[in-house]
This record gives sequence, structure tokens and C-alpha cells, in this order.
Amino acid sequence: MPSDTKVTVYYGPLSWFDEQVEGLSCDSLMEIVYARDEVNRQLRVVVPGQQESEPEERERPEHVVAESGDYASLNEHSITNFAGLIRSIEPEHLHLHNPPAHVQAQMERIFSATDVKRYKYPVVTRDTLVRFRKGFGDHLVGQTAVKDALLAALYPLTTERRTKPVVLMFYGPSGVGKTETAQFVNDLLGGTLLRKQFSMFHNDKYASYLFGGTHTESSFAHDLLDRESGVILIDEFDKANPVFHSAFYQLFDGGIFEDKNYRVEVGPSLIICTSNYGSESEIREALGDALYSRFDSLIAFQPLSRGEILQVIDRVVKARLIELSSEEQKHLDAGFLMTRLAPLADNFANVRKIGKIVDELISLVLVRALLDEGPEPE
Ligand SMILES: Nc1ncnc2c1ncn2[C@@H]1O[C@H](COP(=O)(O)OP(=O)(O)O)[C@@H](O)[C@H]1O
Ligand SMILES: [Mg+2]
Repeated sequence: MPSDTKVTVYYGPLSWFDEQVEGLSCDSLMEIVYARDEVNRQLRVVVPGQQESEPEERERPEHVVAESGDYASLNEHSITNFAGLIRSIEPEHLHLHNPPAHVQAQMERIFSATDVKRYKYPVVTRDTLVRFRKGFGDHLVGQTAVKDALLAALYPLTTERRTKPVVLMFYGPSGVGKTETAQFVNDLLGGTLLRKQFSMFHNDKYASYLFGGTHTESSFAHDLLDRESGVILIDEFDKANPVFHSAFYQLFDGGIFEDKNYRVEVGPSLIICTSNYGSESEIREALGDALYSRFDSLIAFQPLSRGEILQVIDRVVKARLIELSSEEQKHLDAGFLMTRLAPLADNFANVRKIGKIVDELISLVLVRALLDEGPEPE
């Protein structure tokens, strides 16, 4: 019997999916499956002579939803035979959020009324570039060459013709503002930044993260589907084992990333990789031509000068002071903190630790004030 279930497949962040089905009285696919497993587990006792009570007529559910994270809780069989599962439930309308690729394919084959909706990710527009140019100096100290190079690199995303991502490599020493810049661009577009730290990508576990494992394992493709942000940040790209490089060819070329279970089209988004390489020739050497040539732009970040590090410290101090209560602020003086922290500027390796060191110094001053003020114990 052909099923008239209407199926809608949604690709995008969970918050958006929730808005799409808001207001519908929905049953969760998982709850239906759990409830059914429960019934199947119950033993039937048949007393001779007594009429067996008819199993309750099940009502046809109106709207059934499965969210991105739900598929991992289904068993392998339900995933391979997803259409069978849906047929047995027979909802009027099925809403699937970020399902595995073959679930979508099966739905399209079996249920003719299947359509696909995709979230429209924030895109770089002229307005983004204007706000970028205006706000850069408030977020980043120095790095003026980065500002101009990045404006030029982002330009193609503002045109209608661009359908594939812009892929950038930020390179330079640590603690000079690479991640901070990626975060700033993302904040202009909105949505929580999807940030993957590739220094973790050493052992086998990451092979399944990148190439796909069982449907219950986390994967990059699935994380890409769930993302909210227009920016995709692959941090510390130089720390990834070269065996994983080929995983990125298709993504960087055409914006498609596929693993064993999932398929994502990222479209005209911004992919930023960061690294500690020292020069373009070093990047080319380390990554090989195939990967090197897939970057639209390589953007060099310079070490910060002593004066620039002092500015970073000054900004961190001011930002922290604002967060304190007025009572706490009475005990602290920005000038005093700066004198104590200035020696940090002599070594740029300290930049990454500035936030932590500022916090420690502030806590030290405050805890002293607290203990000195209170009454001495008897
Ligand atoms: N040029 C800069 N301007 C402002 N803050 C910076 C700059 N460089 C580093 N910082 C600060 O130092 C910390 C580390 O910077 P980050 O961007 O993570 O460095 P990396 O270049 O290693 O990615 C952040 O808290 C950031 O605010
Ligand atoms: Mg970084």
C-alpha cells in the first residue's frame, strides 16, 4: 500500500528547526519508538476462556519529528530500514532534521511527497565589509595589513555569482589575533562560531570524525550540518596529520563535505584555517600543492610589537574592570595594574596568557582587600 505520508527534510541549526515546527502538535519519533519497544517487551498472558482484549486501535499521529541528535539513538536496523519504521508509524507529516544522507534518499524514493528545506546562512554583504573596516581596530590591535587583505578576500562572497566557499589560511606566531579575527568576522554575521581544534587530530578516533564512522559517532559532517554560523573555523590546521588533508579537497573546492553517513553543502560560506606557519613557501611545502592551491588567500599575521602588547594588556584590564561590582572596583586602579603587568610586554609569548594573568592579579588584590577589611578572628 503506498503511503501518503508527507515528509519534510530540514538542513540547518536546531534553533531554526525548532522554529519551523513550533506551533504544530508534534510527537517525537524517539518517544514513539521507545513506547513501542516497551509494549513489545511486555509479556502477554492469555487466560483460556477469557477473551483477549483487543489491542488498542492506534491513532494515526499528525506530526512526527526527529531532531539531528535523535538518529544516533536509533539502532542500526532502524536507520537502514528507516522507511519501514516510518511506514509502521504512518504519520501524516514527518519532519526530519539533519538526517543521514541515505535516510533522505530513502524518503525521496519511497514517499513521493518529500521536500527539502535549507537554512539560509548569514552571508557577507557590503554592509558586513563596512562594519568590518570600522570595527577592526576596536577588536584587534595592530595587524593593519590583515585588515586590508581580509577585506579583499571577503569581497567575492558579496557577489551573487559566488556559490562556493572562500577558504582562507591565517598564519603567523601564536597569540597575535588569528582566532580573535575569525571570531570578530563571525560576530558580524551572527550565530555561534563553529570552531574545530585540529591539534586534536592525531589518532584513529579522528579518522572516524572526518571520514565518518558508525551513525552513533560524532562527525565533522554532522557538526557542519548543525552549525549556526556563516564562518567555519578550523583552528591549528598545521597540527592535523597529513593523512587527513584529502578530506578537505571537496569542501574547499566546491563546498561539499561528505562522510560515510552525512552530506553537507556549505555554499558561499567562509572557511578559515589557522596555523603557525612562518611563510607561504613553508605552507606550500608542508601541505603540498594539492591542498595549498585550494586556499583562496593566505593571510599573514605579524608578531606584535612591545607597544602593541601593552595595548592588548590595557584593553584586557579595562574589559575586566568593567565586569566587576562597584564595590570591587574601589580596590583596583587601572594604573597600578598596568605597572604590575607591563613587564609581560617584553616577551610576546606571553600574549595568550594575558587574560589569565590579569584575572589572577585582580583576584589577588581583591582577596587581600577582603581579608584586611573584615574583623580579625578572636
Ligand atoms: N592583535 C591583537 N589584538 C587584540 N588582542 C589580541 C591580539 N592578539 C592577541 N590578542 C589577545 O590574545 C589572546 C590570544 O589571541 P588569539 O587570537 O587566540 O591568538 P592566535 O593568533 O594564536 O589565534 C586573545 O585573548 C586575544 O584577545
Ligand atoms: Mg588561535
